[in-house]
Amino acid sequence: MAVVVLGISGSPHRHGNTETLLDSFLDGAKDAGATVEKVVLKDLDYQSCRGCNLCHKTGKCVVQDDAIALFDRILAADTVAIASPIYTMGITAEVKSLIDRGQYLWARKFVLKTLFFTDEHIKSHKGIFISTAGQNWDHVFDGAFPMITAIFNGTGFEYYDNVIANNMDEFKGIKNHPTAMKEAYRKGGEVVRVLKKIRGLDE
Ligand SMILES: Cc1cc2nc3c(=O)[nH]c(=O)nc-3n(C[C@H](O)[C@H](O)[C@H](O)COP(=O)(O)O)c2cc1C
Repeated sequence: MAVVVLGISGSPHRHGNTETLLDSFLDGAKDAGATVEKVVLKDLDYQSCRGCNLCHKTGKCVVQDDAIALFDRILAADTVAIASPIYTMGITAEVKSLIDRGQYLWARKFVLKTLFFTDEHIKSHKGIFISTAGQNWDHVFDGAFPMITAIFNGTGFEYYDNVIANNMDEFKGIKNHPTAMKEAYRKGGEVVRVLKKIRGLDE
């Protein structure tokens, strides 16, 4: 059974810096033998969380739109790579909105206690954050990390690694970055090999 790697592209800009970096990560995963899928959030139809808290009673979201189907795919994947550029010191509205819609999973875990991930499950499910930013500032990604941690925790993934590249304004595009594209490709392959080893799958 192949390792399934799901890439989630959260930039509203198709084939921009961040999606291009995600594509390189997915290429590396594919070449290492994974089954690779990509979802583009801007092409999906989903609402923001209404904050109605009905999920605290039912464990389900009252809004049955594309976000729910995507959470089903996330829960079925072995690796999830969430890609977002830095917008105003954080993740894009598309990614934040998706994360908020996972509140029904939070309710299952912490209110209803019907959802539980074993340590073994978490160790064999890896989450990767992929991001680009315009500024040349080392801390430019710091605002994004807690939200990415939240979605990985909520869906049973170990926050395994980041592929991040700043200073896009100066480089004038991810393809001119000296190392990021190769790093993304290498990390895509690496995570698949690590998972194969954990699961005892043949190379
Ligand atoms: C609305 C908006 C807000 C942005 N805010 C920031 C920011 O706070 N810090 C930063 O370094 N870059 C910021 N940028 C620049 C993007 O992060 C950068 O150009 C990124 O590589 C774009 O990725 P994309 O081509 O995938 O959309 C912003 C860009 C936009 C459009």
